[in-house]
Amino acid sequence: MKKKILALYYSQTGQMREILDALFLPLADMPDIAVTCREIKPQQTFPFPWTRNSFLDVFPESVLEMPVELCPPDINEEKPDLLVLAFQPWYLSPSLPVTSFLQTPLAAKLFADTKVVTVIGARNMWVQSLACVKARIESLGGTLAGNIVLTDRAPNLISVVTIAYWMFSGKKDRLWGIFPLPGVAPDDIEGSSRWGKLLGETLTQNRLDDLGKNLTDLGAAEISGPLARMEKRGKKIFLLWAKAMIKHPSKRKLLLNLFFVELIVGIVILSPLYSLANMAAGFFKRKQKQVSS
Ligand SMILES: Cc1cc2nc3c(=O)[nH]c(=O)nc-3n(C[C@H](O)[C@H](O)[C@H](O)COP(=O)(O)O)c2cc1C
Repeated sequence: MKKKILALYYSQTGQMREILDALFLPLADMPDIAVTCREIKPQQTFPFPWTRNSFLDVFPESVLEMPVELCPPDINEEKPDLLVLAFQPWYLSPSLPVTSFLQTPLAAKLFADTKVVTVIGARNMWVQSLACVKARIESLGGTLAGNIVLTDRAPNLISVVTIAYWMFSGKKDRLWGIFPLPGVAPDDIEGSSRWGKLLGETLTQNRLDDLGKNLTDLGAAEISGPLARMEKRGKKIFLLWAKAMIKHPSKRKLLLNLFFVELIVGIVILSPLYSLANMAAGFFKRKQKQVSS
């Protein structure tokens, strides 16, 4: 009997679909595996490119994981052998369509007692969003069997500029011909087929329990310590802003504008300072170790 993989994904720009196509490419040559991909579609689409207002407006609901209405998905409820959930972070939380899907009765049926592999396509801050998704998978009775992450490899500030250009212009090209391409690099997208091969082989050999460790050992989800620490602090602050916006709907616009100022200051001034402080702390720690050994 063929092993069934059901991949559920959302993608606004098409990047996540490209990642999945590359990931599953080697599985086309595996006769024992059948892959079905289904898109999660919100009833009200999030228009791309974004405007400043529409981009800011999804902030509180994303952070507080408040669901939006979805189109009825074209999914039969037959349990797959492996679920692949492919998502992207929005404001350090899972994107609204994916958060919403995880709160549907269909998700409760599909995820119960099912092994799940998450695939993330992010700028570079995804750890907090994965924690939310993992908690939801587990509360539905599923198990996170592995995680694959593709990020923009440009330095943090450069990727902020290029992603802002991409999101607000709709163009995934080099800004002024000098900046790197925004988003996940084409080579990295193509290279994700090696994770797909591993996934297919592990599934056919009934070794899904080893998948998570194998993916981690091979570097499928590399975590940057300084970025993860920044995310942790950022998420706490985001939650405070988001709660205030939902609690005071009449002040939502004002609070969103104030939040926007804080976000820009945080990204342009505080986050480089924070990275420098982290580097200095690491340097002194290493020095101290050398002295005491
Ligand atoms: C509203 C919004 C918020 C985002 N927040 C983050 C974030 O917190 N961390 C991150 O690494 N990327 C963030 N991104 C980038 C997305 O995760 C993703 O890489 C990009 O939107 C392309 O995804 P897609 O075309 O597959 O939907 C954000 C994008 C949007 C539109």
